[in-house]
Amino acid sequence: MVVKKPRIVIIGAGMSGLVAANKLYTAKDSRELFELCVVEGGTRIGGRINTSEFEGDRIELGATWIHGIGGSPIHKIAEEIHALEAKQPWEDMDGSPENVVTMSESGFEIDLSVVDPILLLYRKMMEFAQGKIIHGNGENGDAVDYYRVGAKAIKTCSKPISLGSFLRKSLNAYWDSVKDQDGCNSSGKLLEEAIFAMMENAERAHTSAGDLSNLDYNAESEYLQFPDEEITIAKGYLSIIESLASVLPDGLIQLGRKVTKIEWQPDGHGSPEIQNGGDSRPVKLHFADGSIMVADHVINTVSLGVLKAGIQEESGMFSPPLPSFKTEAITRLGFGVVNKLFLQLDPMYEFPFLQMAFHRSDSGLRNQKIPWWMRRTSSLCPIYKNSSVLLSWFAGREAVELESLNDEEIINGVSTTISNFLSKSEHKNITNLSKCSNGNGNSFTSSHGFKFTKVQKSKWGTDPLFMGSYSYVAVGSSGDDLDSMAEPLPMISDHYDVAPLQILFAGEATHRTQYSTTHGAYFSGVREANRLLQHYHCSVFSELQL
Ligand SMILES: Cc1cc2nc3c(=O)[nH]c(=O)nc-3n(C[C@H](O)[C@H](O)[C@H](O)COP(=O)(O)OP(=O)(O)OC[C@H]3O[C@@H](n4cnc5c(N)ncnc54)[C@H](O)[C@@H]3O)c2cc1C
Ligand SMILES: *[C@@H]1O[C@H](CO)[C@@H](O)[C@H](O)[C@H]1NC(C)=O
Ligand SMILES: *[C@@H]1O[C@H](CO)[C@@H](O)[C@H](O)[C@H]1NC(C)=O
Ligand SMILES: *[C@@H]1O[C@H](CO)[C@@H](O)[C@H](O)[C@H]1NC(C)=O
Ligand SMILES: *[C@@H]1O[C@H](CO)[C@@H](O)[C@H](O)[C@H]1NC(C)=O
Ligand SMILES: *[C@@H]1O[C@H](CO)[C@@H](O)[C@H](O)[C@H]1NC(C)=O
Repeated sequence: MVVKKPRIVIIGAGMSGLVAANKLYTAKDSRELFELCVVEGGTRIGGRINTSEFEGDRIELGATWIHGIGGSPIHKIAEEIHALEAKQPWEDMDGSPENVVTMSESGFEIDLSVVDPILLLYRKMMEFAQGKIIHGNGENGDAVDYYRVGAKAIKTCSKPISLGSFLRKSLNAYWDSVKDQDGCNSSGKLLEEAIFAMMENAERAHTSAGDLSNLDYNAESEYLQFPDEEITIAKGYLSIIESLASVLPDGLIQLGRKVTKIEWQPDGHGSPEIQNGGDSRPVKLHFADGSIMVADHVINTVSLGVLKAGIQEESGMFSPPLPSFKTEAITRLGFGVVNKLFLQLDPMYEFPFLQMAFHRSDSGLRNQKIPWWMRRTSSLCPIYKNSSVLLSWFAGREAVELESLNDEEIINGVSTTISNFLSKSEHKNITNLSKCSNGNGNSFTSSHGFKFTKVQKSKWGTDPLFMGSYSYVAVGSSGDDLDSMAEPLPMISDHYDVAPLQILFAGEATHRTQYSTTHGAYFSGVREANRLLQHYHCSVFSELQL
């Protein structure tokens, strides 16, 4: 009798799936031990890594940054394959911005003497939330600890604590403390408010939490980022994916194979011979084209967004349904939409790194022509020095709206916004709003002589293979939920009749400290490959896991 090799099927050819495939395939003797394949619902590999081209420039529609190169396995691969240099310039601008100007929607540049203290204040608050300031006592004369007041204020609150409320309570503490000194000029406060909101808007895109009051405060200190600088990949993020896939033989990755249902056997085999058409493997995958595949182990790497949709009654991706500890974690964790928008400037114009400070609705300083979906965009900047391609990040409702707009609507909306920001051609610097009138710029194209001609944008929210961009720890959730996401099923397999490790879970949303990033996805793939290798008593990969 031929001994059947265990069959491992990996669902998804994104970072986590391809790392798992790479590790399983290259493990010692693994080819004698397992049958392996990757099934990918889309027509390309990479998942949320989607390097593309726009007007001759290489751009990233998904993952962009290596969040800290110190100890990063992705940086290591990038170095090995010489992906960090390229002849062409690449998308690296918003990491080391030059020529930064912060402007208010009324068309004035805000002086650094107003901007910098608020940026510093914001940074200190974030460092405090992240647990990086333990003993800070206003040392160096800069860190006035308003964040302590903020933290104290939220601790006395019985409601769940959000990062958003911490930030606002700390800001109010700051305002309270300066009131007596300079008479709390309200117009100065309005500017500070707009600058602070600009930082919050950047945070929304960073975390994918459309509303920071839904972002858990405590999780902030559990999140780990690798040390050292953050960089982009000159030859494109996809070069990492291609490198991981290059060791796999043709045919191992099957594209256009969308899984619609996963049947598994938490309570034992029953009559597997009958159930699975004579092939006694415990898991049965159904595909969109009606075909079926059986497996001993499935590593499921679909996004948290796809899982959220998959546990809804109607679609029922899992049969029987996942146990409640899983569905509860899937439900509680946050998965937001973040999109990138690229615009072509014509003719070439040396556009600054524009930081955009929008005013509150009750400030009386709003320009009504600016569309609502632009109002929480924190910056617009060239993708590299002197590039004629500009980039903005969108999050939440605004990111969702962006997907539904056509190119003309986007160009009109951005042009209107930018013409207000750049309306005072002399770019007078301001420290005090009362000196300026509400800008009503309409001379955008005439005074600057350029216009937007083409757009390209990502569409992570509506794509059924993603249904969003990345995970965050929502208020009411915690790091424990990320650990629950990683638990294999069946959880305990001490019953002789129950096949162990039928469904394993990888992907960024299964990594407790580096969720949302390619690092989290990478380590989750190593983790699940190791779990199976260990199960079959193979030697495991000992890559650092934070
Ligand atoms: C706009 C944006 C910007 C980002 N920026 C950064 C950044 O700067 N730095 C960073 O570290 N991270 C960033 N990320 C996050 C990073 O891209 C992800 O964390 C990582 O790529 C996720 O990898 P994964 O393997 O977990 O999931 P995915 O890449 O989503 O892989 C899952 C795969 O499963 C497939 N799939 C889904 N459903 C099915 C199905 N039913 N059947 C078969 N296949 C299916 C999908 O097509 C996909 O290929 C960004 C993401 C986005 C969207
Ligand atoms: C701040 O200055 C403006 C304009 O000079 C003035 O109207 C306002 O009353 C001042 N606010 C406070 C709190 O003093
Ligand atoms: C950018 O463009 C300006 C004007 O076109 C030019 O003077 C400058 O040298 C360019 N800088 C670089 C780095 O190419
Ligand atoms: C901007 O204006 C303020 C006060 O009006 C002044 O102190 C500062 O030097 C100016 N900054 C620049 C860059 O001109
Ligand atoms: C703001 O400008 C107004 C009018 O020029 C002036 O009266 C006020 O004192 C200024 N406030 C600050 C804080 O500079
Ligand atoms: C990925 O990139 C292609 C273009 O290269 C684009 O058509 C597609 O919409 C992108 N996917 C998402 C989800 O944005």
